[in-house]
Amino acid sequence: MATHQADAAVDTRPAPKDLSHHLSRVTKNRQASSMKQFYKYFSIPGIGQLAGGLPNNYYFPFDTLEAKVARPERWTPTPNRPVDPPPSSANDAAARLSKLNLGAQSSPLNQPQDAITVPHTSEQPNPIKKIDLSTALQYGTAQGYPPLYYFLRQFTQQNMHPNCPYKGGPEVILTCGNTDGFAKTLLALTNEWSEEKDWVRDREGLLVEEFCYMNAVQAAIPRGLNVAPVGIDDEGMRAEGKGGLREVLENWDFKKGKRPHLMYTVTMGQNPTSGVLSLQRRRDIYALCSQYDIIIVEDDPYWYLQFPSSTAVNTTTSTDSGNTNFNPEVQILANGEPRPEDWKSSGYPFLDSLVPSYVNVDTDGRVIRLDTFSKTVAPGCRLGWITAQPDLVERILRITETSTQQPSGFVQSMIAELVLGPDHSGLNDPRKASKGGKGGLSDGEGWKADGWVRWLEGLRGNYERRMNQMCHILDDGKYQVKSGRRNSLAAAADEPDDEWSVVEKTQIYSFDWPIGGMFIWLKIHFEEHPLYHTYAKANDLAKLSRALWVFWTTSPYLVLVSPGAIFSPTPEIRERDGWRYFRLCFAAIDEKDLGPTSKRMAEGVQAFWRIKEKKTLEKLLEEDEAAVEGRAGLAMMGQMVGPC
Ligand SMILES: Cc1ncc(COP(=O)(O)O)c(C=O)c1O
Repeated sequence: MATHQADAAVDTRPAPKDLSHHLSRVTKNRQASSMKQFYKYFSIPGIGQLAGGLPNNYYFPFDTLEAKVARPERWTPTPNRPVDPPPSSANDAAARLSKLNLGAQSSPLNQPQDAITVPHTSEQPNPIKKIDLSTALQYGTAQGYPPLYYFLRQFTQQNMHPNCPYKGGPEVILTCGNTDGFAKTLLALTNEWSEEKDWVRDREGLLVEEFCYMNAVQAAIPRGLNVAPVGIDDEGMRAEGKGGLREVLENWDFKKGKRPHLMYTVTMGQNPTSGVLSLQRRRDIYALCSQYDIIIVEDDPYWYLQFPSSTAVNTTTSTDSGNTNFNPEVQILANGEPRPEDWKSSGYPFLDSLVPSYVNVDTDGRVIRLDTFSKTVAPGCRLGWITAQPDLVERILRITETSTQQPSGFVQSMIAELVLGPDHSGLNDPRKASKGGKGGLSDGEGWKADGWVRWLEGLRGNYERRMNQMCHILDDGKYQVKSGRRNSLAAAADEPDDEWSVVEKTQIYSFDWPIGGMFIWLKIHFEEHPLYHTYAKANDLAKLSRALWVFWTTSPYLVLVSPGAIFSPTPEIRERDGWRYFRLCFAAIDEKDLGPTSKRMAEGVQAFWRIKEKKTLEKLLEEDEAAVEGRAGLAMMGQMVGPC
C-alpha cells in the first residue's frame, strides 16, 4: 500500500494508536490473498503474464465506454456564509429555484454537456494514470482502480481532511457504497453473538443515535449486537445530559452485555433528523470515545450538503449570542461556528466553510469514515470509499479481497475518466487523445479536483434552494388560526352589547430548518389535537399518528412521508416518541411539484386538526387497511425504493 513518503520526513504528528484489540476473531485471522499479491507485478513493462487466471481483455465485448456528461458548473452555487440573506418568503424561494433550474431547462438533455470516452487500451504506461477498459474490466487490486484510488486518497487527505491529526494522514479503500462500507466495518470489528450459545458478558454493543438510519441497525442486529441508543438534540448525538453519551457509558448495565466498543453515527444532515454536529460537540464526543476506547464509524453521505441559510434563519430568534455574531472578520463554518484559526485550508473556500468530519479531530486513529458517490453522482454507481488509519484499512482490504474484490470496473473507469481524464504525459505524442480517452471537460481534460468541488457546490446550491422553498411553505402553515368571540371577555370589560372578537393561534407542528442533508424532521404537536385525550386515554397515540399519515395520502392532499417510527432503533423509542415525528425528503421530488406538494402537506395537517370525531379517523384507518390489502405489488414497491 502506498505511503505518504514525501510528507513522512517532515510529519511531526503522532502515529495513530494500535487498535487491533478491537478486531473480530475472523478479521484477526485473515491472511493476504495469495493471488492478489502478484497484481503489482503485472504492470512491469514486458513481463510475460502466466501467473494470474485472467480472461483475455481482447475478448471483452465492450470496445469503449462513452457517455454524455454534465459540466461541473451546471448548477448555481449558494453562498458559503450564514450572513448572506436567505430568501424572505416561499415565493422568493420558489422564484430563486425556478429562475435557476425550472422545467425543461433542468432536464439534462437541454443543458450544455460534454462527452467522455474510456478507451479500450490506453498507451499510458503508468498504472496510476492509465484509464482504459483493458485494465478496468480486468481483475484488479482490492483497494480500488489505481487512478481513482490515488485521486480519492489525495482528495481525502488534502482537501477533505487536511487537519487529520495523526502521522501520515488517513488511508482509503474503495467500496461499493456506504452500505457495503458499513457491512465490512461490522465484519472487521464485531464478533457474532447468539443468545442460545454465548454468554451475555460476551455480547458486543453498537452505540447509535436515538433516531437513526435503520439500515445500519438492521445490519447489526442479526449479528447479535446490542443496539444502544444515545440521546440527540438538533445537532445530533449529545455528549452530556440525560441519555447523552457520558451517561450511557458511565451507567452501562453489564447485564445487557459488554460496554459498546463501536459507535455508528451520521453527523452531517443526519438521517432522519437532519442535524449537523458542531466541531465543539465532535470534540466532546471524541474525548469520551477516547476515554472509553470506542471506535467511531462516521457514515457521511451528505457532508457537502450544509446549508448556511438555515443557520441564518434558525439563529434569527436565537438567544445564543455566539451564533448570531457573524463577524465578517472571522471565518465561520456553515453552522455559524468559528473555524479554528490555526487550521490548514483545504484549498477551496467551499470546503473550508463546511463543518469538518471527525477525521479532523481523530488524534488516536479511531475514526472509520464512510463516503459514497450515491448522493454526488448516483446511487446506482454503488461506489464509495472508507477513510481510516492505515492498519484498520489494511484489515478491511483483506475482507474486500474475499468478498466484493473491488467495485465494478465499469463504474470506476467512468468516474475516473470523468474526473481525471486521460494523462498523456510520458507519451511521445501529446495528441494521442483518441487512444487515451477523453475526460469530462470540453477540451478532453478531466474535471480534476477543481471541477469536482465546483460540482458539489452546485449540488449544494440546488438542494439548499429546494430546502428553502419547502421550509418557507411549512413555516407558513404551522399555526392553526381560529377567530372566535368570547362573551366572558366582553362581560369582564363591562361592555354591554358586543362580544369581543379574538384570534387564537395554536402551533400544530414544528421543525428546525435543516443545516444539512436532504430531510426535514417534522414534529407534530399531537397534544394540541382535539382527539388527543381520546387516544391518550386508550394508550394508542401511535394510532392518531398513523391516522394523520394515512390522511395525508388521501385526496386532495396526496402526500407520502416517512413516519418517525421507522427510524426508531428500539421498540421503547418507537412507543415513547417515534409517533410524534415524520421525515420529509425535499431532494427527490420534481421541482415543479415541490411547492404544491409542500402546500398540500401543510394543508393536510390543518385539515386533520379540524377532525373532531374519533369515528372519522377509525373509518379512515379501516378503509386504508382494506385498500392496502387490495393493492397488489405494494411489497415489491417497497423493495424498489430501497432502505433510504
Ligand atoms: C445515512 C445513510 N447511510 C448510507 C446510505 C446508503 O448509502 P450507499 O448508497 O452508499 O450504500 C444512505 C442512503 O440514504 C444514508 O442516508
